Amino acid sequence: MTETKEWFATWFDSEFYHVLYKDRDYKEAELFMQHLVAFLELPKGSHILDLACGKGRHAVYLNKIGYRVTGVDLSKNSIAFAKKFSSETLDFKVHDMRNPFPKKYDAIFNLFTSFGYFEDDYTNIKVLQNIENGLKKNGIAVIDFMNVNYVKKHLKATEKVVKNDIIFDINRKIENQKIIKDIQFKVAGKTYNFQEKVQFLTLETIKKYIKSTTLKLEHTFGDYQLNDFNVNESKRLILVLKK
Ligand SMILES: C[S@@+](CC[C@H](N)C(=O)[O-])C[C@H]1O[C@@H](n2cnc3c(N)ncnc32)[C@H](O)[C@@H]1O
Repeated sequence: MTETKEWFATWFDSEFYHVLYKDRDYKEAELFMQHLVAFLELPKGSHILDLACGKGRHAVYLNKIGYRVTGVDLSKNSIAFAKKFSSETLDFKVHDMRNPFPKKYDAIFNLFTSFGYFEDDYTNIKVLQNIENGLKKNGIAVIDFMNVNYVKKHLKATEKVVKNDIIFDINRKIENQKIIKDIQFKVAGKTYNFQEKVQFLTLETIKKYIKSTTLKLEHTFGDYQLNDFNVNESKRLILVLKK
């Protein structure tokens, strides 16, 4: 880890990220994928890109239910872990979403708030353009982002979370149009500080981004059961885009 690395390159690649988020719901991820592929009527055998796949929890499941899946992520450690599940129809690679994808896919899924990490609008739009160019004709993109309005309304400024005997001190704030989570903890006498810093992207802002592509916004959902998006009540903002 070097000091010059961006927050998302260090935190998501660290073992502690996976400790803090270890209870992330696999069951919920599977149910979400079941609802999503049924809604999209995505034929079995379609090639899906899981963009920012982490350790591959969605990719592995999508492959298990009959899809060809490629998972990509910036984190070398997460990809090394995910590669253990590789097969003829499931592969994983280190790839930065800011760079174009070398292949075209039937669908590209960007799941669990893996968007809005970059400081300027241009780079966030670039990611959408890479998604557009990475899709086959009539291909489908899904972006599963947080509902920033809900986050703002329910923001817990401070929280202590204990996982694997590590006490994580978490401070949250919204500043300069970013949702910032400072994470501090001590392991073997050493103090660690990490940060998550995600752009405060409303549906309106994302719609403006989409206008810089040929993608069409077809549906917005507000949770993993695919209920309609409600700006005040929904926890998630799930966008379905078509090329
Ligand atoms: C909140 S995690 C979600 C991971 C996974 N989708 C899941 O649901 O478990 C965000 C992921 O985005 C990845 N990421 C961050 N910046 C990236 C980039 N520039 N290119 C590709 N992946 C990136 C991180 O390494 C991390 O795995």
